[in-house]
Amino acid sequence: MTRRAPSVRPKEIQLGFQTDCTVTGEDRQAYLGSIPPPIYESSTFVFPTYGDFRNAGRTRSRPLYTRGDNPTVRVLERKVATLEHGEDARAFGSGMAAIAAGVLSVARAGDHVVAVRSIYGNAHRLLHGYLPRVGIETTFADFTDLGAVEAAIRPNTRLLYLESPGNPAMHIVDLEAVAALARRHGLVTLIDNTLATPYNQRPLESGIDLVVHSASKYLSGHSDVVAGVLIGNREGIETITGSEHRDLGGIIGPFEAWLILRGIRTLGLRMQAHNAAGMKIARWLEDQPQVERVLYAGLDSHPQHELAARQMRGFSSMFSIVVRGGQDAAIRFVDALQLFGIGVSWGGFESLALPIDPCETPDAKELGVVPGFVRLSLGLEDVDDLMEDLHAGLKDIA
Ligand SMILES: Cc1ncc(COP(=O)(O)O)c(C=O)c1O
Repeated sequence: MTRRAPSVRPKEIQLGFQTDCTVTGEDRQAYLGSIPPPIYESSTFVFPTYGDFRNAGRTRSRPLYTRGDNPTVRVLERKVATLEHGEDARAFGSGMAAIAAGVLSVARAGDHVVAVRSIYGNAHRLLHGYLPRVGIETTFADFTDLGAVEAAIRPNTRLLYLESPGNPAMHIVDLEAVAALARRHGLVTLIDNTLATPYNQRPLESGIDLVVHSASKYLSGHSDVVAGVLIGNREGIETITGSEHRDLGGIIGPFEAWLILRGIRTLGLRMQAHNAAGMKIARWLEDQPQVERVLYAGLDSHPQHELAARQMRGFSSMFSIVVRGGQDAAIRFVDALQLFGIGVSWGGFESLALPIDPCETPDAKELGVVPGFVRLSLGLEDVDDLMEDLHAGLKDIA
């Protein structure tokens, strides 16, 4: 490694994850030596001559308009692409915008998608509720059973939509096996890697084609931004750049990109702490009499623990538990917590808890989402304080 960090990491230089988080993708000398990049809060960019303008448009050597390219956003895109071991990335105004762009870049009217059953609720709504309006049908399948996935594939299937670990049932998808299955059938694979983060899992290395993130979660890590990122190979991202990114226009603002960059500088460190807290508290919860089940991929008791351990480096700190006493007990439990906020989202520095109502969860029965289900997102508070708080909450429902 040269003493001065490269602006865009050359392929042959292997840096550690946390080094990539801090230096890669940044071009400090281009920004007068500034450590963080400037926030290019400009809608449009001007040129001294029309010839320069035309040349920049042809070569993309300088941005023309922020819906196409913005220098602050490009720093984020380069960094996330490197962290996921992809070739390029595009950032969006939300995780849902990134997911929609990814799906629409592959599926057209008349096409079919096979998606994981253990899936983020709004992604389910997009696939099940919205996309049929434009002629794209989805079958939800149990990806823990590859026979069931293969049986769901039709002649017009184009895309396998994955999430692993899947929210909220924490199902694990065998990424290498699914990538091989997709290749046999000529299908594209897209995974929502938000829960694992590139620190714990890099699906492109297992042969998956596209990775999406809600950057609103661990990537940014500070619960102060809503955004998304889509990562893939140069050709795939180039196609999306000239189509869904530009034409649907769900882009991120430069300030939001800058906030995510600031969050990512500590992503490796935060994930180490999240992984440690998740493991310690999940193990401890398993021993609590008021807890019926703990669904955490890091535990031996998780039915797919071996697979998870093979393809993940750690298991993050968002997981689900089932408390005894059903939905009423779940509500009393979270109401009794002092350090956990009650709210949606997760992956921030603050702990959150949320009862999951089986009546509002698609395929709840198949997913094992039963009354008493609670989703926990552990933040970066002291683990002993969180355990004490959870202990008090559980005592309340004993
Ligand atoms: C797993 C997962 N993917 C995607 C999203 C959507 O991201 P956003 O809220 O940034 O649109 C969420 C949001 O909670 C999520 O939990």
